[in-house]
Amino acid sequence: MATVLKLGGSVITHKHRPEALAGPALDDAADAIASAMASGDVSDLVVVHGGGSFGHHHASKHGVSKTDGSQDAGAAVEIHAAMKTLNDFVLARLHDRDVPAVPVHPFSVASRDRDGSLDLPTRQVETMLGEGFVPVLHGDVVAHEGSGVTILSGDEAVTAVAQGIDADRVGFCSTVPGVLDDDEAVIPEIRSYVEVADYLGGSDSTDVTGGMAGKVRALLDLGAPASIFGPEALRAFLAGETPGTRIDGK
Ligand code: IPE
Repeated sequence: MATVLKLGGSVITHKHRPEALAGPALDDAADAIASAMASGDVSDLVVVHGGGSFGHHHASKHGVSKTDGSQDAGAAVEIHAAMKTLNDFVLARLHDRDVPAVPVHPFSVASRDRDGSLDLPTRQVETMLGEGFVPVLHGDVVAHEGSGVTILSGDEAVTAVAQGIDADRVGFCSTVPGVLDDDEAVIPEIRSYVEVADYLGGSDSTDVTGGMAGKVRALLDLGAPASIFGPEALRAFLAGETPGTRIDGK
């Protein structure tokens, strides 16, 4: 039973201060993961974290986004290094709690075709899981044919790894308690985009910011049920519950 969990960058960092870790929030998340693993509620777990004020700060400084690339090796390494620093913090907090976390850096393994489609091999992730490790991936820069490097969001990494390892459950721990309707109430379940197009923008709307519309669309196509929830619900998700918004396009 494989689970992929994304820890949003805004949950584990302070988004408006460069390279500022939200230590207590990361501790809480690491506590929840450690106790779910100790109790056996979760066995095969892959963690993916976002960039928050580590990745985004350096990416915008160099004008690099999911679509705007850079051929500058120095810029690529700077963004990647910031994400590795955050990854080290996540690993350390998990190790403090005896979670057997190991790093997977997408820049070293993933790439994009000219049209932007992503190739993220997952054989090593499966082998790590088989050996009892908890692979920890992150948003990163990736080589992009014709564009140098572009940004790989943590959300894209989640989708790619969930498909690659045929995950059973996917969870997004974000700063909001789920997908919200016009009255700011959590929508408990989404089975098709038309149900929520009014709240998230028409079905033709594009999503360049990686906001909720793009996330919902990607999750409907995933092939495994996904949940979007806030930090307070992480324990419930890891215990097998479906807090927040459940997205299942099957
Ligand atoms: C961004 O990842 C990664 C970089 C900017 C290098 P995400 O887009 O998934 O990060 P958050 O979760 O929104 O902060």
